[in-house]
Amino acid sequence: MEKHISIGASILSADLLNLESEIRKLKRNDINMIHFDVMDGVFVPNITFGMPVFESINRIDDDDLSMLLDVHLMIADPLKYIDAFGTSGADYITFHLESESDTVETIRAIHNNGSKAGIAIKPDTPAEAVFPYINSKEHKYPYLNSFADIVLVMTVEPGFSGQKFMDMSEKIRKIREYADNNSAHEVLIAVDGGIDDQTAPIVKSAGADILVSGSYLFKADDMKKAGEMLEA
Ligand code: DX5
Ligand code: ZN
Repeated sequence: MEKHISIGASILSADLLNLESEIRKLKRNDINMIHFDVMDGVFVPNITFGMPVFESINRIDDDDLSMLLDVHLMIADPLKYIDAFGTSGADYITFHLESESDTVETIRAIHNNGSKAGIAIKPDTPAEAVFPYINSKEHKYPYLNSFADIVLVMTVEPGFSGQKFMDMSEKIRKIREYADNNSAHEVLIAVDGGIDDQTAPIVKSAGADILVSGSYLFKADDMKKAGEMLEA
């Protein structure tokens, strides 16, 4: 069976002076997920945007767009900001395993807000580090609230868009295999960093479900075609 691939557009690469029209352009080109990269200048060397911008996007989205809002927190203490993003309409909230916040507590806080929880890992963090946060068949329902729905494998060092792709196929395969053999619920694997028409086939064949792409999508002459290339 062909599995479904979702594309998330990292709006860090959009024309930020015209964010609303950039978001409408995504929708017109059949890209239905907005990837919102929050950086604090502490966890990563760069600073991007936060709540006020996110709330504005959610206001456009409320009108008629109905796009998925996927927040990627590259911040030192994500737990502190989960409620703010959750109540502002984030569908997915992903935070870093390498951050200071307690992982289980943060996953629970995300779920308590009704969002799906993702854990992200940097290129140097091994696959095995996320295994304790993927549900085990033995646990079943009572503890589901504490397990991640998504694992985001970074294919660049977090901090900037437009970096060169690092091949994390082996890590993706290990996580896919562990989740398929052990999880009582579906775990999606997302990849983020340097994804384009050349690198997408590599991560898809390793088992990725969600492909995040910034520069490739926003720089494309034909965004629709670019999105289709990633999905195909
Ligand atoms: C990197 C961010 C990515 C990045 C993707 O720290 O998390 O989402 O903006 O941009 P590209 O696709 O240009 O690597
Ligand atoms: Zn990201």
